[in-house]
Amino acid sequence: MIEFCGIELEHQVINASGCFDVLAARQVFGEALVERFPFAAYVSKTVTLAARAGNPPPRLWESAGGMINSIGLPNPGVEVYLAHHVGEYARLGVPLITNVMGSSAGEFAELVERVAEREEVAAIELNVSCPNVATGLDIGADPRGLRDLLAVVRPLTRKPLIVKLTPNTADVAACAAAAEAGGADAVSLINTLRAMSLAPGGHGRPWLGGRTGGLSGPAIRAIALAQVASVAARVAVPVVGMGGVSSGADAAELLEVGARLVAVGSESFRDPAAGSRVAAELAAHFAENAA
Ligand SMILES: Cc1cc2nc3c(=O)[nH]c(=O)nc-3n(C[C@H](O)[C@H](O)[C@H](O)COP(=O)(O)O)c2cc1C
Repeated sequence: MIEFCGIELEHQVINASGCFDVLAARQVFGEALVERFPFAAYVSKTVTLAARAGNPPPRLWESAGGMINSIGLPNPGVEVYLAHHVGEYARLGVPLITNVMGSSAGEFAELVERVAEREEVAAIELNVSCPNVATGLDIGADPRGLRDLLAVVRPLTRKPLIVKLTPNTADVAACAAAAEAGGADAVSLINTLRAMSLAPGGHGRPWLGGRTGGLSGPAIRAIALAQVASVAARVAVPVVGMGGVSSGADAAELLEVGARLVAVGSESFRDPAAGSRVAAELAAHFAENAA
């Protein structure tokens, strides 16, 4: 058993937000998915106040060692999430972490208040990789922005708040320290790195409908390792490490540099059974090292 923000987890591997669709996975694995859920906690895809259709297609580009997505956070909005999804996710038998994103502190506050009312929700993850409507900068890209956000949302709930940091910033450790000073119970990183691809033969025309997107997968693992190491050295709150994890050995490296938990993201698109495989490989790695 692993303790994380007062929550008991069976092991150290969870899913990265937006990278494991339980409803789709149930079609592959059937009820066995619910009976033996691969992750120690389930993190929802980002939920916003209003429904979002997401970005225009194309939304994906396969790059060297990874992919660039400009999915654009499509989701049915918080009302539908609370009415239909929370109950479904609570059936998984693992703690539910709800990931929310607002484009202002006021929107985050409304989301946190609504989600915190539900006892099925064990913790709330704040996705701060969204441009501030007033400044155009990512809310989480600057320590002051994060402190201001936490000052508004921290008093609204006693549930653990996890700040999902953006890697698209000059000093991620300073951002983590600001989140911690504002009362965050944990930080998670890394989110995708801003990236671009061009349409083949297209005279500089971007391929993705959203022009730019986020790079993920093995291509970003070394960056994730550096950022997780620098954040874990700076803050005392637990760190959830992610970025390019595709094996137990990758997960072990993030734990070695100070992460408490590891999240599996893009690898689940390549191998829908990646969650349980990475957890099993990690357990074997620990057993070997203890021997
Ligand atoms: C297709 C896709 C959708 C994603 N959706 C979300 C999301 O809804 N909310 C979020 O916070 N992060 C989202 N992410 C970012 C992942 O949670 C993770 O931080 C990132 O992909 C790095 O991990 P990885 O290299 O293992 O994929 C998404 C990533 C991908 C590839």
